[in-house]
This record gives sequence, structure tokens and C-alpha cells, in this order.
Amino acid sequence: MARFFLFLAFVEVNSIISPPNEIIETSVEVFNQWKETRNAFMDSMEYPMGFPNFNCPQPHRKSSESVHQLHPSQIGVIAALGDSVSVAQAAKSSSILDLFDQFPGVSFVTGDDVKLNEQATFINIFRKFAPRIKGGSSDFVQKFYDFNMAIPGSFSSELPEQALKLASTLKKKLGRETSDTWKFVNIFIGHNDLCNICNNETTFGPETFGKSLHSALTIIQTNVPKVFVNIMPPINVKIHSQAHKLSKFCEFSHRKTCSCIFELNEKEYQNIKKQFDEQLNEVVEQFNQKYGNSSTFAVVIAPAMDLKSIPLLKNQPNIGLLALDCFHLSPIAHDIAAKQIWKGLFEPIDQKTITNQLSVGFDRFVCPPVECPYLRTIQNSENCEPSREMRFLRVPSAFASSPGLSMPPYMIPVFFLFGTALILLFVRASIRSSTTSSEFSDERHHLLLPLRADLNDNIF
Ligand SMILES: *[C@@H]1O[C@H](CO)[C@@H](O)[C@H](O)[C@H]1NC(C)=O
Ligand SMILES: *[C@@H]1O[C@H](CO)[C@@H](O)[C@H](O)[C@H]1NC(C)=O
Repeated sequence: MARFFLFLAFVEVNSIISPPNEIIETSVEVFNQWKETRNAFMDSMEYPMGFPNFNCPQPHRKSSESVHQLHPSQIGVIAALGDSVSVAQAAKSSSILDLFDQFPGVSFVTGDDVKLNEQATFINIFRKFAPRIKGGSSDFVQKFYDFNMAIPGSFSSELPEQALKLASTLKKKLGRETSDTWKFVNIFIGHNDLCNICNNETTFGPETFGKSLHSALTIIQTNVPKVFVNIMPPINVKIHSQAHKLSKFCEFSHRKTCSCIFELNEKEYQNIKKQFDEQLNEVVEQFNQKYGNSSTFAVVIAPAMDLKSIPLLKNQPNIGLLALDCFHLSPIAHDIAAKQIWKGLFEPIDQKTITNQLSVGFDRFVCPPVECPYLRTIQNSENCEPSREMRFLRVPSAFASSPGLSMPPYMIPVFFLFGTALILLFVRASIRSSTTSSEFSDERHHLLLPLRADLNDNIF
């Protein structure tokens, strides 16, 4: 068997991997084998990353008075609540050394280190309509407006706390603008509950999930004016066991990260997942009954990524969708999530499609449909009348593809200085990463976006 073992002490494990300071021991061979298998899947996918030619008609109207007539161009902030998935844990990991790193710059919600022609994220799609949108997150430089409140390892019971933090951060950072700005808040949580439910059905069970969602939504409804809340049901974590037959490393990794999938069978998990979904539906329905006519608050369920199994590639579970820890989403999966959820925003609430197979269409983009160009809510799903002032202009594509090209003259020195700092950071990052991961540099290069600079490494 393997002669060499890696003993790694993870000093700070702030992920779903528990307990902290876990000593991970795995054979180098098993890990390298898994890496090769996964790379082979990624290569044979020939997946079209991003939307290189995205170009949609731009509406000729600045603001909206109603959440039921909300066009993407009117969104001012993208925010996220959730767990490690929303901060793209392990998404760009390339060795066993960075499996616990987060890469918020490529998160499907707020990822702002990638352009739309490299990888789709909500913020870079919305920016095509709303050039001044805020909330982007980055691995590269700490941005001023960072409304991704997701915390790796979070259970749903921690959601209300995140909601409070979002409300206060919005007030602090937007100031008086808060009340005029439309916010798009994405919620994706429950994976850690599902991974731990066999340890305590009360603490990690569906009722806790429902209650926590309810209080988080209450906090948002009362403290965040003008908001569209998009809730994604948690993925049934049991589907990860489909990867076990392809790699021993996956089994090993899941024993550390999500041990309940070894305790409960498929039927039991289906049943649990059903109860989580029922809780989610119930809570959303309650809010719709209470606030369905509100013009400043809407909440919808976005099931596009509610996968029933790992999509197949050549009759095998497509592990190219998984990050190198065999649990989180790869950059390809983040790209799919952004595109599919985006598409779903314009589907009536009871007709939303769920991604099933990796097949066609990921390079085709959806524009807000002319007959109803708004984010669908309970109200406009039945009856959608485009507002009369909403005229569409086709913007010259040069502008559409690079908003913010025009810069007032006084900004140029600032921009230059900032650019120099960026280059310095980038050089540092390159040096760092070339020393740590040279033996693992066979990742597909077009998937590896700007190298990560360590945020703790204060350069300023
Ligand atoms: C589950 O957790 C709750 C609250 O934390 C505790 O009161 C209860 O005893 C636990 N149940 C089991 C079976 O451990
Ligand atoms: C919303 O308004 C319509 C028409 O005024 C009314 O029939 C309906 O019951 C209201 N719904 C809610 C949830 O208040």
C-alpha cells in the first residue's frame, strides 16, 4: 500500500469539517489519483465557462416603485447569507494544502474577481444591467462593499445572526442610500444541518431550519427596506456518496466533512430532505400571505440547483462539478449555479426548472423577457404587466460589455496608484503560490482565475 502519508494539522478549520484541529491523514497516492480522475472529467466536459457574448436590451427607466416590477437594472446591491458554498470554499483549491481556503471572488452569488466572459456570477450578470451594483466579493483585494455574509460551517440556526449583520452592514455602508436601494439577497443554507442531523435531530432538524428561516426573514423584512429575497433549498448531501465509487479520497473526505451520509440511507435522507423542503415552502407561504401585496418586500424559492443526483457524464457521476475536497462546488458548478438561478428568476414561481443533466444550453443566455422583464414574485407570476414607462433601448455592445469605461479625469491618478498596488499584490501572490503549489499546477488554466492574495498579508 501507500508508503507515504501526509499528516496535516489544520490549525483553524472554520469549515463544515469538524472537529477543529482535526489531523487529516491520507495517502498521497489516493489523493493524486482522485485529482487525476477529477481533472479527466473536467477536461472531457468541454464546458463553456461564462457568457462571452452576453448582451441584452437595456431598459430606459431608472427606478422602480414596486418589487413586483423590479428589473435587474434596478438592483443596487447583491448580498448573500449562507454557509461555505456561498463563499466558494475549495472552489479553486489545487492541492491538499488549500482545501480549506475560501474563494469568495468566484462565488456564484457575489464573486467579483471574474468577468462574465470567464465565469458567470450573479453580480457580474446583474452588472451588465446595473453598472454601479455593489456587494461584490474578492479574494484579491478586500473590497469596501462586501455584502457576502455567508460563514463557512454555519448551521441554519445561525441565519438570523447573519441577517442582523447584513441589516447593520447595509445601514453602515450605504448610509442614507439604504432606503432607496433595491437589494437582492440570496440565501443558501442547510447543508451543515443535513450533514449533522444523525447526531441530533432537534438541533439539526427540519423544525430548527424552518424556525431559523422564519426569524431571518422577519429580520430582513423589518430591517432591510426594498428587498427581493431569493432562497435556494439546500442540496440533499446524500448525493455526494455517488462519488465514492469513483474515488477512495471522496469517501475519506466525506467521513470528515459529512459523516451522517454514512449513517442514514437514501430513503431516510429523501424523507429528511422532504421535511426541509416542506418547512421552506411553509415559511415562504406564510410570508407571502402576510406580505404578498407589499411593494417593498418579496421572497421566492429558487430550486434550480436542487439536484436529485450528481449529473452524469458518460454514465458516471460528473465529479468535475465538485471541488478538490470532493464536497463543495467547482468553478464550473458555480458557473452553472449562477446561470441556472439567473434563468429561473424569470420563470413564474410555480414553473421553475431544476437543473438535471449537464447537456446543452450553458452557453446560451437568457435576457429578461420582453413580455415580463421583472424578477418573478408571487404577484407578477400570475399577472405581469410591463410598465408603460419601461421602454427598451439596445445599447451599443461596447458599452454593454465594459461598463465604467468612461472615467472622470480626476480619477485617473487614483486609478493609476490603485493599479500599481494591485500589480504588487499580484506579484506577491504569484510568488507565494508558485512556491506552494508547483507540483499541482496541472489544473486547467482557463479555470484558474487571478491568483489568490492572502488577505491577512497586509500590504497597505
Ligand atoms: C439535542 O440537542 C438539544 C439542544 O441542544 C439537547 O437538549 C438534547 O438533549 C440533544 N439530544 C440528543 C439526543 O443528544
Ligand atoms: C392582495 O390584494 C388583493 C386585491 O386587493 C386581495 O384580493 C388579496 O387578498 C391581497 N392578498 C394579500 C396576501 O393580502
